[in-house]
Amino acid sequence: MSKQRVLTGITTTGTPHLGNYVGAIRPAIRSSERDDAQSFYFLADYHALIKCQDPEQVHQSTREIAATWLALGLNTDKAVFYRQSDIPEIPELCWLLTCMAAKGLMNRAHAYKAAVAANMEAGEDPDFGVTMGLYSYPVLMAADILMFNANEVPVGKDQTQHVEMARDIAARFNHHYGDHFVLPEAKVDDHVAVLQGLDGRKMSKSYNNTIPLFLPEKKLKKHINKIKTNLLEPGDPKDPDDSTVFQIWQAFATPEQTDEMRTAFAEGIAWGEAKKQLFELVNGQLGEARERYEALLANPAHIEEVLQAGAEKARKESREFIGKLREAVGIRPIR
Ligand code: TRP
Repeated sequence: MSKQRVLTGITTTGTPHLGNYVGAIRPAIRSSERDDAQSFYFLADYHALIKCQDPEQVHQSTREIAATWLALGLNTDKAVFYRQSDIPEIPELCWLLTCMAAKGLMNRAHAYKAAVAANMEAGEDPDFGVTMGLYSYPVLMAADILMFNANEVPVGKDQTQHVEMARDIAARFNHHYGDHFVLPEAKVDDHVAVLQGLDGRKMSKSYNNTIPLFLPEKKLKKHINKIKTNLLEPGDPKDPDDSTVFQIWQAFATPEQTDEMRTAFAEGIAWGEAKKQLFELVNGQLGEARERYEALLANPAHIEEVLQAGAEKARKESREFIGKLREAVGIRPIR
């Protein structure tokens, strides 16, 4: 039986935070160890250009995200780990798919619709500030997925529409040119926690409420101390299910440790004490990876080497596949 192909991309615009770790990176690294699946994980740096026009930030984020996945133990002998822009066949496929993608389908993409809605709200021209990159973003994402014929695409809820669009585009291509593409499926994991941020809302760069994953110890402690709590005093029973401190605890703790903390809340643990224990738990789990992360960042040539090796593996497939696809659409040597 051939292995299920699992593929996902990470847009290189920010610094990974605890929410990314718990919600995406940790489950992806675990899943890459499955024997019945082959994982393809990549840095979506072309996607980064859609929302970020600061070259330094794109570059820095690419370096940090690569170092993060390696520091956390992604086994690159098993998983194919690469950078989107190292695979020239992806933008090439993107064009073939652009010619199959219905404009009306793109009109319905959430990210584009949200930009238009915000413009209308502000009394601007509907397309104010909307680039073709933003508009055709789902086609580039379809190219990422279809290039490697992925079966499963683990994503957050906000991305499922894009995976459905990739299916649509693939089906249309197959209909015109023969059965070339597997129809991919989005996989939203309801078991992984969506972590809350410092202010209690979903931890997200756009809310500026994140705890970066590899903060130096002292800063990690400071950030944890900034998590919003209420005014209950030591000795007052506290509601764990209404607490960000407890929510983050749960994402790192064993079930036993979670039960113990639940009891401690009922018994009125002081906020300062709960935060101190949370710091120790998180710091204990991330400490070694943080050292590897620092070492990797100090040796960027090594990161680059690992990415080049990944690109070589990926291109073995993409080169051959794009050849077939070119042939299929009639782009052929004169003969
Ligand atoms: N658009 C995705 C995001 O912002 C990242 C991404 C790019 C992706 N290409 C992909 C995810 C292909 C899954 C498959 O989260």
